[in-house]
Amino acid sequence: MTNYHSPVMLNECIEALNIVPNGIYVDCTFGGGGHSKVIIKKLDESGHLFSFDCDEDAYKNALPNDNFTLVQANFRFLKKFLKLNGVLKVDGILADLGVSSHQFDSAERGFSFRFDNDLDMRMNQASDFSAKNVINTYSAEKLADVLFYYGDVRASRKLARTLIASRPIASTFELKNILQEFSKDEKLTTQVFQAIRIEVNDEMGALKEMLLQAAQILKPNGRLVVMSYHSVEDRIVKNFIKTNTFNGKPKKDLYGRFETSFKPINKKVIIPSDEEIKVNKRARSAKLRIAEKT
Ligand SMILES: C[S@@+](CC[C@H](N)C(=O)[O-])C[C@H]1O[C@@H](n2cnc3c(N)ncnc32)[C@H](O)[C@@H]1O
Repeated sequence: MTNYHSPVMLNECIEALNIVPNGIYVDCTFGGGGHSKVIIKKLDESGHLFSFDCDEDAYKNALPNDNFTLVQANFRFLKKFLKLNGVLKVDGILADLGVSSHQFDSAERGFSFRFDNDLDMRMNQASDFSAKNVINTYSAEKLADVLFYYGDVRASRKLARTLIASRPIASTFELKNILQEFSKDEKLTTQVFQAIRIEVNDEMGALKEMLLQAAQILKPNGRLVVMSYHSVEDRIVKNFIKTNTFNGKPKKDLYGRFETSFKPINKKVIIPSDEEIKVNKRARSAKLRIAEKT
């Protein structure tokens, strides 16, 4: 089997979790289990690790340990699935957002324009909403917003109109060809594929729901460790840690005090070392934020 995924900032994430051997931990994004494998090694038999992944392909990587549970679900349902397992509070939560190398490198999953395939991009193969739905059914305005907010596409309105005029668009190569005709800028294809993927999987919505639940289920001094690969994601995480809101505007409680649930552990965002980026190019956009539940 080719490498499913190389874990990014592995040591930094494990250290950030500040693991206590009998604690309960959550890895929201199991993938190839790169981070989970190290977390479980640090637990004793009374500790437990719950890992989530909505992609059934990740299941072949399940760990054999008795104190490990793999939940095939979206991490937006974190609290519900932990409760089903009798868990109300946890000691640490890790999320390594986005797609795995396995998903990106599997031609049939339709995430990459390196391969010609159905426009799919679903992380959860059981979902009935794919990239084809976004590209072929969204209004010009909605499509332009997706391209602008999740792909930083400058000419988003014009591009949305071009895409709508080219409908139906069924494959990755059809989309790539339209984009390459639209602009000589090679980055555009990457930006558009990324934007569509984020929309298909409602990545920002899931992240927000997970953060709200993390604030409810983490024990005092419990750690929240989030690694993101996109500026919008990182802004959501940063704002939430600082202000308990997603727009960064602090809210006051009934007594006029600013509401906070977390104390940031790193003031400056943590990025991978040059050495790590040299051996794993996909680590290059990673941004790590660590916070402690107050
Ligand atoms: C970047 S990879 C994680 C890699 C993992 N840390 C490792 O070292 O192997 C992200 C994984 O999280 C999963 N994922 C992304 N968003 C998710 C969500 N909202 N709910 C559940 N799983 C999600 C993806 O399917 C993918 O397998």
